Amino acid sequence: MEKHIPLLTPYKMGKFDLSHRIVLAPLTRQRSYNSLPQEHAILYYVQRATPGGFLVSEATGVSVTAHGYIHTPGIWSKEQVEAWKPIVNAVHAKGGIFFCQIWHVGRASKFEFQPNGEAPIASTDKPITPLTLQDGTIEAFSPPRRLATHEISKITNDFNLAARNAIEAGFDGVEIHGAYGYLIDQFLKDSVNDRTDLYGGSLQNRCRFALEIVDSVAKEIGPDRVGFRLSPYSDCLDCHDSDPERLGVYMAQALNQYQILYCSMVEPEPVKIDGVLHTFHKLLPMRKTFNGTFIVAGGYDRERGSEAVREGYTDLVAYGKLFLANPDLVKRLEINAGLNKYDRSTFYTSDPVVGYTDYPFFDQSGH
Ligand SMILES: Cc1cc2nc3c(=O)[nH]c(=O)nc-3n(C[C@H](O)[C@H](O)[C@H](O)COP(=O)(O)O)c2cc1C
Repeated sequence: MEKHIPLLTPYKMGKFDLSHRIVLAPLTRQRSYNSLPQEHAILYYVQRATPGGFLVSEATGVSVTAHGYIHTPGIWSKEQVEAWKPIVNAVHAKGGIFFCQIWHVGRASKFEFQPNGEAPIASTDKPITPLTLQDGTIEAFSPPRRLATHEISKITNDFNLAARNAIEAGFDGVEIHGAYGYLIDQFLKDSVNDRTDLYGGSLQNRCRFALEIVDSVAKEIGPDRVGFRLSPYSDCLDCHDSDPERLGVYMAQALNQYQILYCSMVEPEPVKIDGVLHTFHKLLPMRKTFNGTFIVAGGYDRERGSEAVREGYTDLVAYGKLFLANPDLVKRLEINAGLNKYDRSTFYTSDPVVGYTDYPFFDQSGH
């Protein structure tokens, strides 16, 4: 059996000695009641932690306006910081390296989640087209309010405070969530950003908000504890760009100036050809541009992940759905075991066990 597949080789990410290349991708699970991380998250993260393994937390709100989905955690209050501590400690006790993904949803929110029922804030006042969910229900977000230029630094500061809080909670660093159509992406992409001030128009202006956050957070906690996540090819929440490669390369280049630890990028959706899923390594120009650790995600399995590391296309591979459904994914990939299938219907349900910590380990599932 091929034991030392490239995914299982050690890697030094800044000051962190990783024992393998398999990363827990950030996964929103909506089990943090009233935005407070719960005790059941200890087991969930510990199940997925390995000695020298790198984990990124679920997206975690930076402020009271950052919130858009029920039971997603926050890290703006003292109480939330305290609630994160036992979770982070438990991951550390198992030898894991744990970053907190810090997040502002922007216009992906509703009046009911906002202080005093106010409008969600965004780069624009254009609303998101209502989404039809898998069960046929329609998810409609509330019309947003365009941030005035002078308000933007306040949001940057919220990211800053959240990063400081994450360190206080014991996290090893933070990942700034610039992906999937949330606030930062609402500034980055030209389908949404219709501003005429310094934060809109040219590519440089659209990236300004993201880079001000990076600058500020890197100064606050040190660049060696900061990652940035970007999904140039995604069109989630109506956020798409007319030139994703140019956007991705510009950001990769700009991020170099801050010497942050890593850049995590999401592949375009894999395409099925003759029954086989293909990814096209569209992130290669960004990989070549960025000087720090590069992480890819999106449709990776054992074979494609190994190939990506072997070819030098990436340093690390983040696994989302496979890690969600396989708490011992690292072990399973190592021994080339079968994988549990994920159940989409429980991705975002609030049960503290079902679809969360009850996916079987390899020796329990018997295959
Ligand atoms: C249930 C679920 C929740 C997710 N939550 C987040 C999140 O909080 N932050 C984020 O950046 N990406 C999130 N993602 C995207 C994943 O991190 C990952 O990029 C995506 O699932 C593609 O990787 P995969 O094909 O290995 O699942 C989520 C994905 C799923 C399935």
